[in-house]
Amino acid sequence: MNYKEALEKLQRFGQEHVLAYYDELNDSQKEELLSQIADTDFSVLSSCKDEIKENNKGQISPLKAMQLSEITNKKEEFIKIGMEAVKAGKVGAVLLAGGMGTRLGSDNPKGMYNIGITKDVYIFQRLIENLMDVVKSADAWVPLYVMTSDKNHTATVNFLKEHDYFGYNSDYITFFMQEMAPASDYEGLVYMEEKWKISTSPNGNGGWYSSMYKWGIAQKAMEDGVEWLNVFAVDNVLQRIADPCFVGAVIESGAACGSKVVRKCAPDEKVGVMCLEDGKPSIIEYYELTDELADAKDENGDPAYYFGVILNYLFKISDLEKIREKKLPLHIVEKKIPCLDKDGEKVKPEEPNGYKFEQLVLDMIHELDSCLPFEVERNKEFAPIKNKTGVDSVESARQLCKENGITL
Ligand code: UTP
Repeated sequence: MNYKEALEKLQRFGQEHVLAYYDELNDSQKEELLSQIADTDFSVLSSCKDEIKENNKGQISPLKAMQLSEITNKKEEFIKIGMEAVKAGKVGAVLLAGGMGTRLGSDNPKGMYNIGITKDVYIFQRLIENLMDVVKSADAWVPLYVMTSDKNHTATVNFLKEHDYFGYNSDYITFFMQEMAPASDYEGLVYMEEKWKISTSPNGNGGWYSSMYKWGIAQKAMEDGVEWLNVFAVDNVLQRIADPCFVGAVIESGAACGSKVVRKCAPDEKVGVMCLEDGKPSIIEYYELTDELADAKDENGDPAYYFGVILNYLFKISDLEKIREKKLPLHIVEKKIPCLDKDGEKVKPEEPNGYKFEQLVLDMIHELDSCLPFEVERNKEFAPIKNKTGVDSVESARQLCKENGITL
């Protein structure tokens, strides 16, 4: 893209200020900026103008979760089905590690965070150790796909290599990068990170499958016979990955996907809960849950919307293929965005100063026809690390690891 074409594109979106410093740049910086303008989707920025949307949820009704008592009764059968799928190489695992982890506040990728007390125990290491439990009992490697972003790719790849992939067979690890989205001020004007660089932020975890496809990795997985993908977050250090019981239950149910869920610990806990929306599986965020829904009861008199998602989903690839081209809703998140001020000086804001734009994996569920919510014991499988201290923190996760006999 040349200067004229770049200017025309920016004018279409009211973003001409991106070229304000063009004349001061050297040739390689000019080239870098023009190519970033060519690659950037500025259309997302206009969504903050019509931000603070009216609640456009459809008709909500309960979606029954498979609960612990039922799972315990059918455990052996589920494990048998799931184990067969894992042994046959039909189950892959997708680690979503492209986030910025801003709440934890470390400059490194979140997975590099050391939660050890008496020895080094990195978050990535904990996850790989968990996956190794399944690899050992199935006596088969599970293909592991790791999604990074432009901001943390090199650090993640180097770190895992330096630690010899914590014992995982690197032939079964594939990295791919997610897309980035421009970040803007409250008026929707894109920020500049450098005079030759637009501020960007990873575009959320919802684009994982389309990124996998863009990298040719989804196609390779299908060729290799992978039929199911277990997608999971980087920050839950207790989570079971490629869990044969969960895999078996979802296969047996015939659903297009499954979602691990936990019973909420309090009615106002800040987790999204599973439901049906206009008859299709969906997730209501905690801030969308009206008092009426929060008080609603199922036929047994239990709360009807009480199973929270923990970002551990099992998707059937053939169903993902059907929705690959679908545009997911855009979520607008307020954020501290490092940028250039009016004088072209770099600033690192202490308070949020604009928006980033994200698509979320939970919105994929609503595109599919069916989903099995599968209950897990929260104290055994849910130790998310979002913050350093307090709720969902390094402290709380350490305590839960201790309760589960994991030495840190
Ligand atoms: P979070 O919603 O906790 O976001 O991500 P985050 O960016 O890691 O952390 P904060 O909000 O800045 O503190 C949930 C999961 O989704 C991944 C994260 O790496 C984590 O595993 N994720 C998030 C991505 O892979 N890409 C993204 O763009 C955002």
